[in-house]
Amino acid sequence: MLTKIEQLLAEVENLTATNAEELEALRIKYLSKKGAINALMADFRNVPAEQKKEVGMKLNELKNRAQERISALKEAFECMDNDAAELDLTRTAYPVNLGTRHPLTIVRNEIINIFNRLGFTIADGPEVEDDWHVFSSMNFPEDHPARDMQDTFFIESHPDIILRTHTSSVQSRIMEANQPPIRVICPGRVYRNEAISYRAHCFFHQVEGLYIDKNVSFTDLKQVLLQFAQEMFGPDTKIRLRPSYFPFTEPSAEMDISCDICGGKGCNFCKHTGWVEILGCGMVDPAVLESNGIDSKVYTGYAFGMGVERITNLKYKVKDLRMFSENDTRFLEEFESAN
Ligand code: PHE
Repeated sequence: MLTKIEQLLAEVENLTATNAEELEALRIKYLSKKGAINALMADFRNVPAEQKKEVGMKLNELKNRAQERISALKEAFECMDNDAAELDLTRTAYPVNLGTRHPLTIVRNEIINIFNRLGFTIADGPEVEDDWHVFSSMNFPEDHPARDMQDTFFIESHPDIILRTHTSSVQSRIMEANQPPIRVICPGRVYRNEAISYRAHCFFHQVEGLYIDKNVSFTDLKQVLLQFAQEMFGPDTKIRLRPSYFPFTEPSAEMDISCDICGGKGCNFCKHTGWVEILGCGMVDPAVLESNGIDSKVYTGYAFGMGVERITNLKYKVKDLRMFSENDTRFLEEFESAN
């Protein structure tokens, strides 16, 4: 009997099956009521008493091994079934989550598109700049507060190297390298040393514009800005220019648009004035043209600059600036656009 068990054990260790039917046949052969193992169990009562312990243990081992082997083969078949299902080429693809464009990118592209149609090309420049391009060439007096440590990030150990505080530095680089006619917009990120709150951040985004040619006047500036405001905020939008001051423009102005929340009647958003400020502008100061190698007796020009966050806040009524840089996908997914 022991030899018979050993022989079956060896057989069981090497069982193979290529499909479910073959496996079922093996199960019947070894494990069913009429199978080989049950037949041995039936013979067990004829085993002499002194051998019962040894034979009983071997018989149990055989039964366990046969069960293990057959369920292992069964599992292998089930896995293969799953693999085959994975390979079903007619199955619908898994859904892929598509990203959405950042609201600031959507609005920046919209601003760029409007000015592109008006004949402006895009100019780019470095975010880490020197003092000359950010301040000196832009007619900032030596003691102008914008140069103060509170506003500007300096690169340690290089007091002349700074993070640009506005994209006017790109205008400077363009004037330096080109003669008029110049008609560019400069989109980009700028940095200011401000405490972060719902309405200020240490970095934000600007689009600045520059047009230099013979006989450019303030009327041209006003017309281009009106066109921009009406394309961006709707055809009924009105604009208003208030006198202001920038070192690089003379005369300078700040532009407001009619508040589209209350339709000009006055609300919390426009602080009950009916107007909201959106950009700074003016005629390029002759000193700036000269500093950058352009003859101010022959040419005149205008410049304007706006914050992309501000325009986005107005368009989408985002109350807290910090939302733009927190990477909260619940917020970002709200903005779907083909732009
Ligand atoms: N450079 C100005 C700023 O950053 C914006 C501006 C650009 C104003 C051009 C007037 C003309 O605040």
